[in-house]
Amino acid sequence: MQQTLANKRILLGVSGGIAAYKSADLVRRLSERGAEVRVILTDSGQHFITPLTLQAVSGNPVSTSLLDPSAEAAMGHIELAKWANIFIIAPATANVIAKLAQGMADDLLTTCVLATTAELFIAPAMNQQMYKNIATQKNIATLNEHNFHIIGPAAGEQACGDVGLGRMEEPLQIVAAIEQFVAAKPDSHLSWQGISIAITAGPTREAIDPVRYISNHSSGKMGFALAAAAAQLGADVTLIAGPTLLTTPAGVKRIDVISAEQMHQAALTAAQNSAIFIGCAAVADYRMAEVAAEKLKKTSDAELILKMVKNPDIIASVAALSQHRPFTVGFAAETHNLIDYAKAKLSSKKLDMICANDVSDPNQGFNSEHNAVTLIWPQGQLALPAQAKSALAQQILQHVLQQFQLVAKI
Ligand code: C5P
Repeated sequence: MQQTLANKRILLGVSGGIAAYKSADLVRRLSERGAEVRVILTDSGQHFITPLTLQAVSGNPVSTSLLDPSAEAAMGHIELAKWANIFIIAPATANVIAKLAQGMADDLLTTCVLATTAELFIAPAMNQQMYKNIATQKNIATLNEHNFHIIGPAAGEQACGDVGLGRMEEPLQIVAAIEQFVAAKPDSHLSWQGISIAITAGPTREAIDPVRYISNHSSGKMGFALAAAAAQLGADVTLIAGPTLLTTPAGVKRIDVISAEQMHQAALTAAQNSAIFIGCAAVADYRMAEVAAEKLKKTSDAELILKMVKNPDIIASVAALSQHRPFTVGFAAETHNLIDYAKAKLSSKKLDMICANDVSDPNQGFNSEHNAVTLIWPQGQLALPAQAKSALAQQILQHVLQQFQLVAKI
């Protein structure tokens, strides 16, 4: 199972509707994607599902009461509200929705909603006529204005026999909405302050003689976008750049190199002082066995054979460092078998994460302003959709930091 919700602390509020029986499944689906889940069960919710069931599936004690001394001693209500970074109420009854729209705090669930800075989601669930009621519609509109994310409801047959809008969205639909939100939004609780990151970018150039070289079409835009985004987020950024005309992003320390060997040296030095290393450069795989000291002259021969030798694999040597090894992230630019090849590189180069990049589409990748990648790490993978490289850089960094913090147990 992809750990799309790794590092997420999700508080689930379960209120009193028949759909509460699906909440246990929702907890499981969230947990199996890596989230830590805690549950608040309202008084009326307890008529539909027991605290014990939700405790068993979440692995955490279920909170039911605002003024329970033993629960407050374990994790007080304000602490619980602060603990969460995502707060879902599913099912959210018409009554709970009305209370939230008014800002009431007369039980544990509503109190925690007022006391939290978490992203708030509600999955309304009620009889179709109650849902249609103008009061409910106004309350939902108010919550929408208050930046709650509203998931559903779905239409169909209801427990009471009516047919219409008002069924709670299925757990997998709710999970999909949360995953979409998480993939799109950088995590505000994860901070880059004080984290050093080294990034390689652009092509390398391998000299043939004093006037000619072998290189590739890499523009350096993706690596520069990552450096710019990391610096904006407060990281301490070293950008090791192959030959490119791109300007240095604000706040970034830039080291210019030409050849793969120069990039290798610069990368090993920078990696020693970096917590995270991202190899975004398109490094030439081979260089001339010997660079001619003087310009090669055209001869009468129809063929010219160049003898080349393999360049060092920069990212693999960073990942192989026995001391001060940074969390190491590579890129895999492929035209086919994208995921399989990227996974093979993740393991052969011993990387912590790889950004698989389909370069067969001329609208993205090399030289384009846009790109799409699939992030792959040993326990999971996540597709990030095509978008401007600057926006994609922020999303990549969010997930890099998340995995880095998990691995480093920060
Ligand atoms: O093996 P391949 O070139 O496809 O792997 C791509 C990844 O490896 C990129 O992260 C790239 O920056 C890195 N790489 C490297 N040194 C090389 C070749 C690739 O760091 N000589």
